[in-house]
Amino acid sequence: MRAESSWNTPRYAAQWPSLPKAQKLSEALGRQVEAWRSDYASNFSGPHSDMTVVWEPVVNAPDLQGIRLTHSVTAADSAIDSMTIYGDAGSSFTSRQLIADSQRKSLAQQFARQAVKADGGEPFEADPDDVFTDVSFTHDGTLVATMPEGTIGPMSDGRLYATVKNPQRYLTEEGRRVRGVAMKSPAPSTAQTPTSVAKPKETVDCTKAKCIALTFDDGPGPYTNSILDTLEEKKARATFFTLGPAVQAAPATVRRMVELGMGVGDHSWSHPQFTDLSDGEVTSEITRTAEVIKKVTGADPVAVRPPYGAYAKETPHAGFPFVLWDVDTEDWKNRNAAVTTQRALAGAHPGAIVLMHDIHPSTAKAVPGIIDALHEQGYTLVTVDELIPAMTKRGVYPTRPAQ
Ligand code: NI
Repeated sequence: MRAESSWNTPRYAAQWPSLPKAQKLSEALGRQVEAWRSDYASNFSGPHSDMTVVWEPVVNAPDLQGIRLTHSVTAADSAIDSMTIYGDAGSSFTSRQLIADSQRKSLAQQFARQAVKADGGEPFEADPDDVFTDVSFTHDGTLVATMPEGTIGPMSDGRLYATVKNPQRYLTEEGRRVRGVAMKSPAPSTAQTPTSVAKPKETVDCTKAKCIALTFDDGPGPYTNSILDTLEEKKARATFFTLGPAVQAAPATVRRMVELGMGVGDHSWSHPQFTDLSDGEVTSEITRTAEVIKKVTGADPVAVRPPYGAYAKETPHAGFPFVLWDVDTEDWKNRNAAVTTQRALAGAHPGAIVLMHDIHPSTAKAVPGIIDALHEQGYTLVTVDELIPAMTKRGVYPTRPAQ
């Protein structure tokens, strides 16, 4: 799985693996990328749009492989969806083919009802064709369906995830085969048992060194690994404030963060405004995500970042410090690498906490230049817990927001 095919023009960037032992799967991946490209070219292509495809393995055994393609389009609006395709030398099959024909409709309705329970209102009329594009299995055999926004709940809920603990009765023969391999093979993104992923301890004394903390919210997403590549190559650290379902969907990426010495923070489960919730709801938003992070990495999150930076004096912390920011790149709004870079560097100062989001391609593009410029200015890039080693469980940092 080393060789990659790719095409790259100013507005398209796509990568997918070429798998010599799974020829049929390679061909299916290439066809899917081509279908997205031609749809983009005829419907979205314009001066302010781009389309990207990135990939990750979800199953990797000698006789069966599974690849997730994550596809995002930034145009007037931005959209993201993913598809997991499985195969070997002689055949390939889509995620949909893992679920028995007779079961698709009722399982899709079950997911929609779960989504409604979390949200109130009437269940969505879920289209089984959209629901089963990205189906994978965790190491303990749980089925995880990742769905594009608007599939089983309102668009504002973003991408949605549903799980089934004992999915055997819904599966086809292919489905049972994939599940069996996922449960046996130590594929990184399906592994759930934490090994000791201890952080390489280098001591940085930020009272002496000129330290700065880059932070990335709302992931892990399709660009997180490319940001991690950059951080690794440039020997820099950062903190990722993650969402619980996204951690569940990409555990390998989160484990890699820890292996590289990054901080993993908790950005809640469903990204609500904490000030709109009851104390119990806030606590559950925080602890649900903290538990998934602990399950994947073996460690607690380093801190919590309330979505939108919204909290009140009496908001429960569930045992974690709150870490906000004092440099806002507004990368989610400008979606422009040059503007994001300019804002990050203009605000940089010793002790700064810089806010970015690892779900935008423009941010991933900006990161190498930001790191180079900060290094040239003599900064050491650290995690938030290295920057502020004595955080307390009820503390809010930075203590004096520079505004
Ligand atoms: Ni956020």
